[in-house]
Amino acid sequence: MQSFIHIDSPHYLREEQLPALPDWPAIFGNDYPIALEIGCGIGDFIVKTAAEQPERNFIAIDFYNKGCYKTCRRIERHGLTNVRVLRVEARQFIQERLSKGLLAAVYINCPDPWPKKKHRKRRLVNRLFLEFIRDYLAPGGDFFFATDFDDYGIDVAGLMPGVDGYENQLAPDLYRHELEGYHLSKYMRKFMAEGKRIYFVHYRKAN
Ligand SMILES: C[S@@+](CC[C@H](N)C(=O)[O-])C[C@H]1O[C@@H](n2cnc3c(N)ncnc32)[C@H](O)[C@@H]1O
Repeated sequence: MQSFIHIDSPHYLREEQLPALPDWPAIFGNDYPIALEIGCGIGDFIVKTAAEQPERNFIAIDFYNKGCYKTCRRIERHGLTNVRVLRVEARQFIQERLSKGLLAAVYINCPDPWPKKKHRKRRLVNRLFLEFIRDYLAPGGDFFFATDFDDYGIDVAGLMPGVDGYENQLAPDLYRHELEGYHLSKYMRKFMAEGKRIYFVHYRKAN
């Protein structure tokens, strides 16, 4: 069993110390727009993305303790001040700590694919989740989803047009295998090295 790593970083927020709806501008020290990465892993994607958008704040969440630790270390190494990390379950955190319409962007990269048919219902992204997360996006807010798993990519790409309130940013394509300007995460690089293709989906919440 892996030992639990204590995370002592100014970028790390303990959920139990947050009020029900935190004052995010006070936490970040400014009122820049806020983006969320769900399942940040070791933080390589969020660090690259946040470094090139200094006038945007980023919340990176994962329920993987070691991943949160590595994400914080990476943020420190890069001297970033616009990222906060939390070890939380995504749906619960969003519902309890974010207000609707808050998010300028949501990123989900290589979520656990649950490849066995009988486990598919455990997948994070399904129709219900797409409707749920839409409500937390600001008008004009971006929704990015990327997976190496064919069946998951095709499924989400197929669901999106049927969910009200989103506009496809890749039209006429439902997904692409390359997305210019989008950073690759650890898992994306790993799967690409194995010869797999990534499915990128990009929608924007209608104004
Ligand atoms: C396959 S890894 C991908 C990590 C990273 N996004 C990447 O592409 O390199 C999926 C990550 O999502 C996290 N995760 C899965 N479901 C989650 C949930 N409901 N809430 C928070 N984190 C979650 C896992 O702990 C894991 O670190």
